[in-house]
Amino acid sequence: MYRYHRLLAAFLLSTMLFATRLIAGAEDWRIALCISADPVHKMNVSWRCETRLDRPLVQFIQNSPLAKFQNLPLNQSRALVEEVRGRDSSLIYVYSGEMSGLEAQTAYAYRVGGGESWSEWFVFRTASEEAEPFQFIYLGDPQNGLMTHVPRAFRAAYSAAPDAAFMTMAGDLVSVPDDDQQWQDLFHAGGWIFGKVPQVPVMGNHAYYYQGQWQKAPAKQWRQHFALPTNGLASLPETNYYFLYQDLLFVVLNGNTQRKEQAKWLDELLSREKAHWIILSMHQPLYSTGEGRDGSKMRDAFLPVIDKHQVDLVLQGHDHTFGRTFPLKGGVVVKKREKGTVYINSVSGSKQYELEPMIGSVFAVTDADKQFYHVIDVQPSTLTLWSYTVDGKLKDTVIIKPASNR
Ligand SMILES: [Fe+2]
Ligand SMILES: [Fe+2]
Repeated sequence: MYRYHRLLAAFLLSTMLFATRLIAGAEDWRIALCISADPVHKMNVSWRCETRLDRPLVQFIQNSPLAKFQNLPLNQSRALVEEVRGRDSSLIYVYSGEMSGLEAQTAYAYRVGGGESWSEWFVFRTASEEAEPFQFIYLGDPQNGLMTHVPRAFRAAYSAAPDAAFMTMAGDLVSVPDDDQQWQDLFHAGGWIFGKVPQVPVMGNHAYYYQGQWQKAPAKQWRQHFALPTNGLASLPETNYYFLYQDLLFVVLNGNTQRKEQAKWLDELLSREKAHWIILSMHQPLYSTGEGRDGSKMRDAFLPVIDKHQVDLVLQGHDHTFGRTFPLKGGVVVKKREKGTVYINSVSGSKQYELEPMIGSVFAVTDADKQFYHVIDVQPSTLTLWSYTVDGKLKDTVIIKPASNR
C-alpha cells in the first residue's frame, strides 16, 4: 500500500511539473514573423499570450541538424510587452521583439517565450547581399471565410512557393478588427506559415471599422498583431513602410489616409533608392474591377509618381475580384518597348463581388467568384507574376522587363 502511494505521489508530481511547461504553437500565440527594414541582418516577431512572461525573450541560432541544438549558445533579445484587453475583457500580453546581427543568406531557428513557456522552433532565412533570384507570395483580402475558405488559399500559396522570401496580404486581413475571434481565425488560417514566412501586411479600410461603425483612426488591434518597420511617414507607423529585398524595393502604402503626403514621400524615396525593381502594395486599387467602384482618388494621388519612376508592379485588394492590367502609363496601355506599370487586384477569402461591367480596355484578364493566390518570381532580367486560382490552376502569367532608366 505504501509503495502504491509513493508511486501515485511521483506520478502526480510529474504531471504537475509537466503542466507548468508550455510549448505553444503558432496559432495558440498568434506568432507572426514580420519583415524588418533590413531583411539581410534583422527580422521582427510578434506574439501574444495570457501569461505575463517575467523575462520575455526571442531566442535564435543558426539552423542546425543537431537534435540538441538548443543547448548550443543561443542569441537572445528582450521583447517589449504591452498589456491589452482581450475577449471578455481578460488581460492579454502582446509581445514584440527583434532578431538582429543576423548573417546574410542564412537559415535561423527561433522561438519566443520565457521561463517555462515557449513556442515551438520556427526556421526562416535571411536575404542575400547580392541580387540573387527569389520568389514571394501575394494575396488579396483574406477577410471572410477565415476558418473555412482562407486556409486552403494560404496553404496552396505556400506549397507553390515554399521558399518564399516573404508574403504580402493587400489589406482587409479581418472584417471587424475589434472582434478578437476574427484575429484568432486569421492566425488559424496562417498557422505556422505566419511563423516561418516573413509577413508584409497592408492596412485595408476594414481596419477602420469597429464599435459598429467606420472610424477616423485604425483599430489598435491591427498594430498589436505585427511588428513592422516604421520608416515611412512618422504619422503612419507600420502601415506606410518599405524594405530592400536584394535588388527589389518593396513599398507598402496606407491607401486609407494621407495619400498626398505619402505620394510626396514615395517620390522622395524612389528618387533616393535606385533599386533594379520597384513593387508597391496598397489596399485600394488605382483601377477598379469591383462593380460600381472607382479608383480615381488613388490615381489622383499616386499615378504621377508611379509613372515618373516607372514602378514595375502594383499589388492591390479591396475589390474582391481578380484583374491584371496591361502595362499602363497615364492610364493608357503603353506601346510595345515602352515601359509601363502592371496593376493587379486580387482576393483570397470567400467574399466575392461582381465584376465592373464598365471595365475599360486596361485589363488584360479579369475573373470573379474565385479565390486566388500569386507567386512573384524576381530575376535580374525578368519579373514574373503567376496568378493561380485556389485549386492550383495557373490563370495568368505576365513577364515584366526592367525599366531602362534604372
Ligand atoms: Fe477593402
Ligand atoms: Fe475587402
